[in-house]
Amino acid sequence: MKNSIQSILILITVLISTTGADEVVYAQVGETVTLKGPGVTYQLEYMYWKFGNQNGPLLAWCNHLGGERITEDTKWKDKLAWSDNSLIIKDIQQENLGTFVREIIKSQTSNFFLITVLKLNVSVNPPSPLLPGENLSLACSVETPQNLEKPKIHWLTPWGENLEMRQETRRVTSKDNGQWTCVVTADQKEKQTKVSVTVLDLSPAPLRPQYTSKSMPLTIPCSIPPHISWEQIKAKGFQEVVWQFSPKSSLGLIHDSETQKLYVLSLERLRWNKTDQHRELKPVQDPQKRNLTLTRKQGRKEDRGDYMCIMKFKNGVTLSRTVHVEVLQIIPSPGTDLISGQPLNLTCSLSHPLPSDLHLQWSPPKQSSLPKSDHYQAHLTIPEVGTGDGGNWECSLWQGKTQLTSASITLKIEHKLSVWMLVIICSVAVIAILLLILVFILYRHRQRRVRHLRHRLCQCKNPKPKGFYRT
Ligand SMILES: *[C@@H]1O[C@H](CO)[C@@H](O)[C@H](O)[C@H]1NC(C)=O
Ligand SMILES: *[C@@H]1O[C@H](CO)[C@@H](O)[C@H](O)[C@H]1NC(C)=O
Repeated sequence: MKNSIQSILILITVLISTTGADEVVYAQVGETVTLKGPGVTYQLEYMYWKFGNQNGPLLAWCNHLGGERITEDTKWKDKLAWSDNSLIIKDIQQENLGTFVREIIKSQTSNFFLITVLKLNVSVNPPSPLLPGENLSLACSVETPQNLEKPKIHWLTPWGENLEMRQETRRVTSKDNGQWTCVVTADQKEKQTKVSVTVLDLSPAPLRPQYTSKSMPLTIPCSIPPHISWEQIKAKGFQEVVWQFSPKSSLGLIHDSETQKLYVLSLERLRWNKTDQHRELKPVQDPQKRNLTLTRKQGRKEDRGDYMCIMKFKNGVTLSRTVHVEVLQIIPSPGTDLISGQPLNLTCSLSHPLPSDLHLQWSPPKQSSLPKSDHYQAHLTIPEVGTGDGGNWECSLWQGKTQLTSASITLKIEHKLSVWMLVIICSVAVIAILLLILVFILYRHRQRRVRHLRHRLCQCKNPKPKGFYRT
């Protein structure tokens, strides 16, 4: 008899503890859970939190005078804290899962509220980081007792797509990098749990080509994103990074056969080794800092083409980014040294037609006579250059209000009869006159000598007998 009463009592308590859940909370092991219950609308006198059922062990209490207490039980002691009439459970463990009963005593009447904390399992396999092409499986489940309604569970991708599934397996691409969310919905309440998935990749290449010119620097960006470390990359079987270049012909074609290796970064020392075709490009930083960008102070005509930053792994996976480089050029015809009055053509171009969203703008020297209306033309025809056109001509490339790059040349324009030429003409004239005078003087001198000589010769031909013939 005594036994059966005991067992009935046990049954009743079990029933209370399992059926009466006013609220269900889902939590992963290790999470922090806040137990609150409906708002306390009246001044409470005492609030008790018990574990299991109404008669279960007391975990914590507080009263309207500000007194509060937490159990000394080692299973709970360091995990519980009061916060504004709510009970906080830090780093919740398997043994802390179950039903929590809140009892509020007001005017000697008790009011109970039951919160059941159920275990939520979220798993990501294999752990991050992953290489593109590896299989990723994500699973989300809750352990629901039979008497409770099963919640709806689904996954959200990092880009917000609802997969309508509790389990997901896929071959990852770099797009899958980011926060995945498991959403548990029950009683019109949602519990979101985020897990992060890291897929190794290089930072995105710029969408636009990189523009440069002979008067501007050239920068070819490539980097490892900030959330990925060299250690993670090495752990995945890193082999090397290669920078290579494929020049673009004047027709705008890429010739893969002309592809050149510029730099190689190998695993052993994590230092750049330049090849003999490095084109005087320089890495901007120590590769340890994950910035693999190449640069040169000034662009060159031959820089036009595609630059590839390729990261290779031992299992054959390669990650790569391609940076297109375009060079803005000013071509003067017939040249930069001109005489006023000569015709001049100036062409500013990328050696292919300009994309429709870009425009050019000329900045001629201040004294130039170029009409304003011509400032936006790629091709300038100046029928007769004046000396005012001499100086620095700049042509800049714009996308909306952003200047992408600019090129410049210096024109030297001489007067038809410049001062310098006058000086030369005068000097020539003076020299000529001097020469004439010299010639004249020499001639006179010579004549005089000839006459003198003849005079002396005459004396010899007709010798006047001196005492020789005298006997
Ligand atoms: C790499 O270095 C260059 C030059 O110092 C800098 O402009 C660029 O922002 C850096 N890139 C990254 C991703 O840090
Ligand atoms: C300038 O261009 C025009 C055609 O646009 C051409 O007929 C002319 O010969 C060119 N002049 C020079 C000096 O190149």
